[in-house]
Amino acid sequence: MNLLAIETSCDECSAAVLRDGMLKSVVISSQLVHSEYGGVVPELASRAHMELIVPVIEETLKRSSISKDDIDSVAVTYGPGLAGSLIVGLSFAKAFAASRGIPVVGINHMEGHLYSSFLEGEKPQFPFIALIVSGGHTMLVHVKEPYSHELLGQTRDDAAGEAFDKVAKLLGLGYPGGPVIDELAKEGNPNAFKFPRSFMSEDSFKFSFSGIKTSVLYLLRELKYNSEIKDEKLVRDICASFQRAVIDVLVEKTIRAAEKYFVKSITVAGGVAANRELRTTLQARAESINAKTFFPRPLYCTDNAAMIGIAAHFKYQKFGMISDLTLKPTPNLEFEPEVDDATRRTHQPPAESF
Ligand code: KG4
Ligand code: ZN
Repeated sequence: MNLLAIETSCDECSAAVLRDGMLKSVVISSQLVHSEYGGVVPELASRAHMELIVPVIEETLKRSSISKDDIDSVAVTYGPGLAGSLIVGLSFAKAFAASRGIPVVGINHMEGHLYSSFLEGEKPQFPFIALIVSGGHTMLVHVKEPYSHELLGQTRDDAAGEAFDKVAKLLGLGYPGGPVIDELAKEGNPNAFKFPRSFMSEDSFKFSFSGIKTSVLYLLRELKYNSEIKDEKLVRDICASFQRAVIDVLVEKTIRAAEKYFVKSITVAGGVAANRELRTTLQARAESINAKTFFPRPLYCTDNAAMIGIAAHFKYQKFGMISDLTLKPTPNLEFEPEVDDATRRTHQPPAESF
């Protein structure tokens, strides 16, 4: 089966072609227009998608060597995301499917991130724990089998990537903040400043990152920080200390979830998964509990249509082809209800763990 997948939920305009769950081609066009505004501007994003969608899809089909007449179904992200951006991909997908008489399948963007580790290389083993850390989300998910997953917890305020972006902005380092902080932190002292680690001691999978950002703000005020005067050592130390605080929480909660649910695989996705310290720290902690970590390569960590295609493949295998031409853009599309503490307490290890 040849599947065309489309992703336009934020500022990446992307398409992919998969044949029987195997990726044939993917094109990701990142919109650079937002960098001068310090964040994604929704109006500009939807306009850029309008310009990009046709050439991106044409290029994807060309690279796959599969003709558009041989596409059997279309998968498209219908939420969560920016309404105007979602509308562009969704309208194209519906029109393409309707004109060819083929099914169109709606995919939750977060489910794409969840299955992105299955695109290439060694595959995780079910059940696994997925940590999704991007500019918009921070969540821990227990994936029991394909398309059977439960949300263990998510952030109460800022997402991890958002915290990186906001702290970088406070320091005058530009947008996006993650890659810059990652680089500067390499030479900094992670113990120079003590930033809060929210919910760390609590037996829950909740996250909160707005406190760290506020602490950095107060520190900069106290130090009378001026981003025009480059005190490189200070900036590196703040970056390293901030990054260590975020990673401590992410790693600790992920390992706790892996232990609680007796899993042997941990996957990480979303833009923050590109962070070098997160990768090395989580990998080392996972090894200590005999679990393996799976980080998709950076191209598949950030938003892309290949992950929408692989999620659609799993969804199709589980539920059959469910076409829906009435699909609507759903900016606040829920992932799954969070698992409450009572459910968590009754969780039993699988028989083979004994
Ligand atoms: O998944 P993504 O491309 O877009 C969405 O937010 O959906 O993630 C972007 C986020 C930004 O907040 C960016 O600062 C962060 O990922 N990021 C990083 C790194 N690379 C990107 N954060 C920490 N370390 C990195 N190396
Ligand atoms: Zn995303």
